[in-house]
Amino acid sequence: MKSIYPLIIAAVAATSASAETPLYLNPDAPIEDRVEDALSRMTLEEKVALCHAQSKFSSAGVPRLGIPELWMSDGPHGVRPEINWNDWGHARWTNDSCTAFPALTALAATWNPALSAAYGKNVGEEARYREKDVLLGPGVNIYRTPLNGRNFEYMGEDPWLASVMVVPYVQELQKNGVAACVKHFALNNQERWRGNINVDVSDRALYEIYLPAFKAAVQQGGAWTVMGAYNKVWNQHCCHNQRLLEDILRGEWGFDGAVITDWGGAHDTREAALNGLDIEMGSFTNGLTSESEFTYDDYYLARPFLELIRKGEVPESTADDKARRILRLIFRTAMNTRKPFGSLHSPEHYAAAKAIGDESIVLLKNSGILPLDPAAGKRILVVGDNATRVLTNGGGSSELKVKDYISPLDGITAVFGADNVDYARGYAAGPPMYDRDEPVPASVQDSLRAEAVALAAGADVVIYVGGLNKNAFQDCEGQDRTGYGLPFGQDELIEALVKANPNIVIANISGNAYAMPWADRVPAILHSSYLGTMGGASIADVLAGRVNPSGKLPYSIPVRLEDCAAHSFGVDSYPGVESESGDVLFGVCAPQQRYEEDLLVGYRWHDTKKVPARYAFGHGLSYTAFAYGKPVLSAKEMTAEGDKLTVTVPVTNTGSREGAEVVQLYIGDDKASVLRPVKELKGFEKVTLAPGETRDVTFTVTPEMLAFFDAGAHAWRTEPGTFTLYLGGSSAFTPAKAKFKLK
Ligand code: BGC
Repeated sequence: MKSIYPLIIAAVAATSASAETPLYLNPDAPIEDRVEDALSRMTLEEKVALCHAQSKFSSAGVPRLGIPELWMSDGPHGVRPEINWNDWGHARWTNDSCTAFPALTALAATWNPALSAAYGKNVGEEARYREKDVLLGPGVNIYRTPLNGRNFEYMGEDPWLASVMVVPYVQELQKNGVAACVKHFALNNQERWRGNINVDVSDRALYEIYLPAFKAAVQQGGAWTVMGAYNKVWNQHCCHNQRLLEDILRGEWGFDGAVITDWGGAHDTREAALNGLDIEMGSFTNGLTSESEFTYDDYYLARPFLELIRKGEVPESTADDKARRILRLIFRTAMNTRKPFGSLHSPEHYAAAKAIGDESIVLLKNSGILPLDPAAGKRILVVGDNATRVLTNGGGSSELKVKDYISPLDGITAVFGADNVDYARGYAAGPPMYDRDEPVPASVQDSLRAEAVALAAGADVVIYVGGLNKNAFQDCEGQDRTGYGLPFGQDELIEALVKANPNIVIANISGNAYAMPWADRVPAILHSSYLGTMGGASIADVLAGRVNPSGKLPYSIPVRLEDCAAHSFGVDSYPGVESESGDVLFGVCAPQQRYEEDLLVGYRWHDTKKVPARYAFGHGLSYTAFAYGKPVLSAKEMTAEGDKLTVTVPVTNTGSREGAEVVQLYIGDDKASVLRPVKELKGFEKVTLAPGETRDVTFTVTPEMLAFFDAGAHAWRTEPGTFTLYLGGSSAFTPAKAKFKLK
């Protein structure tokens, strides 16, 4: 055996000879100097070793130089429990429970950027305490279809709303020395065939609808990492997509951070080497469940990458560039000596989760039955599986192990008194991760329904807490929903309950829109997303009027699935069609999809095609009411060159309790040479008003807000003419209007 003794002696001698601290270890030195210094000391093998996983959720550092590993964790609603080094099993630690924050779609429903900042700060503190360097979130894929199993992880259907909301999350999270990983870049708008579906979309829809929130997260938020999506665009996988990563992300937006694959999203060494990918994670797993014989050294960006460089088939500079970006990330996070220590499930975190949950709940309808007065001592029957189910389990990678979880039944019981509250399950929804292929026997559902209906007849009020859950084929990663209706016979159950007792409040939980055939027959509907640890307390407080609801829908709720744009063009548009030949992944042959609705996503479609939604984007009621006065413009005209004007609208609380209204500004181009949506969201502000109080809300309008993306010229363009400003409380309610001319 060859002795390593001489090597060790040489290393020790070299170390003692250089007493001075190397530049890369000096936290006061400029980060770019540290990066170059570290790089100059590294071997090619060490650079390549930075570019791929060493375990399910970590990548190696440079042990010889004292450069630490990078640890990552899902995201985005809390810090995921520890996963095994080498497979997807839970590591069964006892110190990894967390605060579950409301789902991102709930955050979007608050329309309150201050809460987004609080979210980033608090979840970042938990990530920091758990010693994570990268939190895999937030997600900003646009809500294109209510069938997408992952909509709850995103921020709704509108690029302006998602852009405004994502920025403070990223900024505050990263103040903890924890990188945001904005995902899934890009066009990952469904789970069906997500691994290899090839999305075809116009450049206009891409730039106007699908990219803005990513751009805001990168440019305004300063995100340190971005996660490539699983799907393909222009026949190339997003994780090594030349146009998305090199041309747009780095070229047009100047992104200086690292691109991380989605887990198993890399498929080709040469493309990965050349097209802007930095860190490859999760490869060679079979459907995320079982291990393969491959080692981390077999990853595309491991030995095969090294071999391509050694053969001269890709330049060594590709490894330098990747290592530079990864070192920069390490200095910003793992080697950031000034980061705070963080904290876990603190009272402040619970308070933030509660505040976000409170403001996220959307009152869709109220004939006056709400709020329910706890002092009235009414006999309340709570019905529904979601009243007791722990909804932080399941759902895929966003699963969380919570330290505490207040269910809706817990919350309602605490507020209305145990003596006044009864519970009937009403329907069975299966254990967590229940598969639709094992339906609950009809006899079980029948008896649960009969029991609930019988109890409903004797109650003063019924509170129904159903909706979707995190099981497969519902609000869950990996598959889309199989239909628009509520599962487990809930529509039938609700109809039977209404007949037994018309004093019923629907307080469903769901990360998606769903059909509400009973909407006209129930007096009140509350819509909540997954609200995490404090969710039941938020729901109970809104029911009791201790919190006045102020959430607004971040997506439209169409009457029927066919009323949704993505579903108006047949299977080519959703879910896409399999091809005759091409790559086969998970048994599916190169599926293709074209976004036929183009930029008419969500309310843009409902407005422009005059297909009213049941509940429109931006809709949400309060226990008080608001009136809009006449808007006043600072000028009647503006020019396209750097000019701007303001519009001010007085908003009055006309009711008898304090409440908050989200004042929304939409702008429409009255006449254009290209198809434009009737109107588009270009501003919003949440204002809290005392009874009788009037406040002037002012928005600034700039020429950029009037522009559309001219694909031919690859530039944003405005056209002179008349524009209408629509101001109001939802996309379907804009009583205050004003016009101006762009010269
Ligand atoms: C998901 C990502 C997640 C990753 C790691 C993937 O399946 O798409 O969102 O961050 O797994 O768990």
